[in-house]
Amino acid sequence: MVLSLYSLHFMLLTFSIFGFLSLLDAGAPPPLTLDYYASTCPNALDIVKKEMECAVTSDPRNAAFILRLHFHDCFVQGCDGSVLLDDTFTLQGEKKAAININALKGFRIIDRIKNKLESECPSTVSCADILTIAARDAVILVGGPDWDVPLGRNDSKTAGYAMADQNLPTSDEGLVSIISKFVYQGLSVTDMVALSGAHTIGMGRCVNFRERIYGDFDASSRGNPSSETYLNSLKAMCPAAGGGDNDETAMDYVTPKLFDNYFYQTLLKGEGLLNSDQELYSSVFGIQTKKLVQMYAEDQMAFFEQFSESMVKLGNITNPDTSDNGEVRKNCRFVNT
Ligand code: HEM
Ligand SMILES: *[C@@H]1O[C@H](CO)[C@@H](O)[C@H](O)[C@H]1NC(C)=O
Ligand SMILES: *[C@@H]1O[C@H](CO)[C@@H](O)[C@H](O)[C@H]1NC(C)=O
Repeated sequence: MVLSLYSLHFMLLTFSIFGFLSLLDAGAPPPLTLDYYASTCPNALDIVKKEMECAVTSDPRNAAFILRLHFHDCFVQGCDGSVLLDDTFTLQGEKKAAININALKGFRIIDRIKNKLESECPSTVSCADILTIAARDAVILVGGPDWDVPLGRNDSKTAGYAMADQNLPTSDEGLVSIISKFVYQGLSVTDMVALSGAHTIGMGRCVNFRERIYGDFDASSRGNPSSETYLNSLKAMCPAAGGGDNDETAMDYVTPKLFDNYFYQTLLKGEGLLNSDQELYSSVFGIQTKKLVQMYAEDQMAFFEQFSESMVKLGNITNPDTSDNGEVRKNCRFVNT
C-alpha cells in the first residue's frame, strides 16, 4: 500500500515535470517533415538527384565525399551546413580543423546544386537540407538503400572550429571513446556500427592507417596468407619511417565503389583498414558491436535497413545551443549579409 502510494506520487511528479517541459518547448524549432518543400520548391528533390547523378557518374568517389561531409556537418552544432562555411575575417570555418583539413571534398558539388536551386526557388532550400538529400542520393547511386529524408533544417550563422576536433572521432581512438561520442549526439551503439558501414565506399589516407598496419593488423588477421599479401601492399604504399602520408587506398578493398556489406566481411577477416573499424569486431569491449558486425556481414538487408534508420537519426541532430536559429543561406560558403 505504502509502495503503491509512493509510485503514484512518483508518477504524478513525473507527469507534471513532463508537462512543464512541453510548455518550455514552445520555442523549440518546428520538427522536420517529408513534404517541407512540396509547395515552395516542388522540384527540389529532383534537382538534387539530377546533379548527384552527374557527379557520381563522372566519379563514384564523389558519393563518398558527400556522405562524409554530411556526417562531419551533423556532429558539429547539428546538421546545419556549418561544415560548408569558408573562413572569412569574421568567421572561422571548420574546414581547417585537424580532423577536416586535407580530407573533406565535394564542396563544389554542393555549390552547383545550390546554384540550380537558387535560380529555381531563391532563398528557399537550406544548404543543410541539400547536404542531407545529396547524401541519401549518393548512397542510392552506388548501390545502397533508399530512404525518405525529413526536411526543414536551417543553416547556421556560426561554425564550430574547435568543436569539430572535439566531437568527431578519429581512426586511432578507442571503441569506448567513439561510442561515447555517438551517444553524446543521441545515437546508439547500433547506430554507430551501422553508420560505420559508410566505409564500404571511399578511401583512407596512410596517415590514418599507419599505426594499424605496423600495429595489430597481423594479429587481427591471424597471419592468413591472403591477408599478408594485402598487408604487404599497404606497407609498400605507407612506409613505417614516414612519407606518403596523403596516399590513399580503399577502406573496402573488395568492392570499393559499391555500397554493400563487404566492409563488414573484411572486419571478420581482421582486415579492417582503420583501427577504429577493426575494433568494432576485435575490441575486448566490443561484445555488442561484434555481434552487429557479424549480423551485417551475413545479412545485407539487415544492414541496409539499419543504415537507413540510423541516417535519419544522424540527419535529425540539432544544435543544443538554440541562440542560433539560423537562416537559409544564399551561398553555402557564406552567412547571408
Ligand atoms: C565511427 C567513427 C568513424 C571514424 C573514426 C571515421 C574515420 C574516418 C577516417 C579516418 C576516414 C579516412 C579519411 C582520410 O584518410 O582522409 C574516413 C573516411 C570516410 N568516412 Fe568515416 N569515420 C567514422 C564514421 C563515419 C560515418 C558515421 C560516416 C557516414 C555516415 C562516415 C563516412 C566516411 C566516408 C564516406 C569516408 C570516405 C571519404 C573519402 O573517400 O574521401 N564515417 N572516416
Ligand atoms: C529557421 O529560421 C526561422 C527564422 O529565423 C525560424 O522561424 C524557424 O523556426 C527556424 N527553423 C528551424 C528548424 O530552426
Ligand atoms: C527528431 O528529433 C525530434 C526532436 O528534436 C524528435 O521529437 C523526433 O522523434 C526525432 N526523430 C527521429 C526519427 O529520431
